[in-house]
Amino acid sequence: MSREVNPRKAAVIGCGFVGSATAFTLMQSRLFSELVLLDVNMEKADGEAKDIAHGIPFAGQMKIYAGTYDDAADAAIIIITAGANQKPGETRLDLVQKNTAIYQSIIPEIVKRDFGGILLIVSNPVDILTYVALKLSGLPENRVLGSGTVLDTARLKYALGEHLGVDSRSVHSFIIGEHGDSEIAAWSSTNVSGIPLNDFCEMRGHFNHDAAMDAIAEKVKNSAYEIISKKQATYYGIAMSVKRICECIVRNERSILPVSAMMHGEYGIEDITLSMPAIVGIGGVETHVPIALSEEEAEKLVESAKKLKEVAKGLIE
Ligand SMILES: NC(=O)c1ccc[n+]([C@@H]2O[C@H](COP(=O)([O-])OP(=O)(O)OC[C@H]3O[C@@H](n4cnc5c(N)ncnc54)[C@H](O)[C@@H]3O)[C@@H](O)[C@H]2O)c1
Repeated sequence: MSREVNPRKAAVIGCGFVGSATAFTLMQSRLFSELVLLDVNMEKADGEAKDIAHGIPFAGQMKIYAGTYDDAADAAIIIITAGANQKPGETRLDLVQKNTAIYQSIIPEIVKRDFGGILLIVSNPVDILTYVALKLSGLPENRVLGSGTVLDTARLKYALGEHLGVDSRSVHSFIIGEHGDSEIAAWSSTNVSGIPLNDFCEMRGHFNHDAAMDAIAEKVKNSAYEIISKKQATYYGIAMSVKRICECIVRNERSILPVSAMMHGEYGIEDITLSMPAIVGIGGVETHVPIALSEEEAEKLVESAKKLKEVAKGLIE
């Protein structure tokens, strides 16, 4: 039997750049009335909790404190950002051994307390660690999801918004597949408020479609490398992405987000977690939304899945 959850409580495990930016964002969002911070470095968790708590009088009443796994056990959502981050020149997949070992110490602590909420995986490589968390925890698949390409999709919308001189929220587009080097921009279903992308581009005076879209997809894919080479880590964009996912869950919004979740034969892909648009609500991932892909996009997606499966194979036997 899972323990009852407190729907207004979240926990963040790992209080480095990403965990602390996420906690700061969640404090301002007023989505939760209690936020527990955990880190192997307890001083760091305590320092972050105290610093962020001093913003509460400007945001809204809540409790934020450094705690233990016992404190986190009844959270509605546990967000895991613990683990090594990319150093300049490293890929996300280079982190897999180190971060799987870290997950092998974290997940059993959560499971043995009969956790009844949702596990939101953020550490990289996020797709592989979502798979690892799912297998290690034995939790129902809908309750284990990764932030996936929610961030990459935001980067894509931002870049398209800039390119077209339009509000990025009017751009409807997804990055799918791996959160990483094999990710795919799903151009064939991209539109701006219902207007097919190429038509909208032409309205705005852009006619060189293939070259422009290739350049934008490359820029999005390489965003993290560029930012890491300039400031060692990325954390604000992911913090907002995590907040958005939490919002969908806590408010049972049933919004469509490209989170990383288990595949069951969609596009011929199974037994791996990767990002596809999915309906996200109070129970986590409700169902995938099978957007139409061109033949080339579908092939690239299958390749992305194959690459992830090779990395996942034998990791946690
Ligand atoms: N999914 C995404 O879109 C996305 C975006 C940015 C970063 N990330 C990933 O998030 C992770 C964290 O990045 P960061 O920049 O915050 O790194 P960081 O080094 O600043 O922080 C990692 C934190 O994890 C803690 N930690 C390590 N082992 C732990 C354990 N067993 N239990 C609890 N805490 C533990 C460390 O003490 C540290 O405070 C990395 O894997 C990074 O690649 C993901």
